[in-house]
Amino acid sequence: MLGIPLRDGGAAARIAVIPGDGIGTEVTPQAVKVLKAIAASAGRPMEFQEFDWGADRYLREGVTLPRGAVDMLRDEFDAILFGALGDPRVPSNQHAADILLGLRFKLDLYVNVRPVELLHDRLTPLRDRTEKDIRMVVFRENTEGLYVGVGGFFKKDTPDEIAVQEDVNSRKGVERIIRYAFEYARQNGLKRVCMSDKSNAMTFAHDLWQRVFKQVRQEYADIDSRHLYIDTLAMEIVRDPRQFDIVVTCNLFGDIISDLGAQLAGGLGLAPSGNIHPGETSLFEPVHGSAPNIAGKGIANPLGSVLASAMMLAFIGWKPEAAALRKAVRAALRENYLTPDLGGDKRTVEVGDWLAVKSVEALAQQN
Ligand code: NAI
Ligand code: MG
Repeated sequence: MLGIPLRDGGAAARIAVIPGDGIGTEVTPQAVKVLKAIAASAGRPMEFQEFDWGADRYLREGVTLPRGAVDMLRDEFDAILFGALGDPRVPSNQHAADILLGLRFKLDLYVNVRPVELLHDRLTPLRDRTEKDIRMVVFRENTEGLYVGVGGFFKKDTPDEIAVQEDVNSRKGVERIIRYAFEYARQNGLKRVCMSDKSNAMTFAHDLWQRVFKQVRQEYADIDSRHLYIDTLAMEIVRDPRQFDIVVTCNLFGDIISDLGAQLAGGLGLAPSGNIHPGETSLFEPVHGSAPNIAGKGIANPLGSVLASAMMLAFIGWKPEAAALRKAVRAALRENYLTPDLGGDKRTVEVGDWLAVKSVEALAQQN
């Protein structure tokens, strides 16, 4: 992850915690526990402030994202640790749209990072693939495309109905995500960047992606860059994932391809993601949702949230601590100290306690 220096040099890292709904409120406290343990052991100050934004608050007070929230997060926090939003009592999902999409757009978190990293051979559904075969990072444009909500209905609810949804792509928006992917490659010693679009069919929107890609890649002659149509990319990732270090694509395709990647690396319970604006307050979350089907049972897998926390630590420049968290997660997979979704018999809190201890041990071993 591209790290940023902390705002005040020696001051404490300031983390806003938004557990949200369902299992978000179960896994997030585990990640916070692990973070507190690692910060204490490293002797580095980290402060947490929790916000109760979610379905309960919305149903009680009608509030989704409170007034002033975005400015407060931007001005007072280095990063946001987010759980999940979604509640059967709010079928419209209005609060989730306001809060999560609101933060992504209003904080201009234009980079959605989804590492696809197989942490244990047995977790991939691909035959004969091992950890070294599945290691890539998907960069999804996170503020434009088909997700901006530009469109409308014509003759709604009649047999002649027409629905239009516009795919919005700005040169600035396309360029900054493609450039970020190349910069990430360079800074992390990765050699291959694949830009994926559907420019053969989307002859305007993705023609722009083609032209910007051709321009930006010239500045990165040290990186081996190529283009694949999104349908071909989907096939190739399954056929031979070893081909890819970095994939960069638009909002919709990134959503889909990163879920495909998540399955190749062990599924939803493990997948982390970052929503980043370089140098600004950014948001880290597990990929999974609020899982109402298992909420409240104490069996949700906290590994995705802990891996998201590791990404957050790397982002704020705490590299050894981030590595320690990842090491602890690998140990849990190796020693089968896991929740039922990954074949274990442990409870959410037990895994969280265990990871806190193992993270501290891993950090001590590094030093
Ligand atoms: P989901 O990710 O919540 O659950 C899908 C399946 O995976 C369920 O069977 C669930 O039990 C399982 N699962 C997910 N995370 C798990 C974990 N940590 N440990 C063990 N099992 C886990 O997706 P679903 O069911 O489509 O959506 C449920 C709600 O979450 C909806 O309201 C949806 O809108 C919301 N959602 C929110 C997201 C977010 O806040 N970023 C992302 C995806 C969905
Ligand atoms: Mg998705």
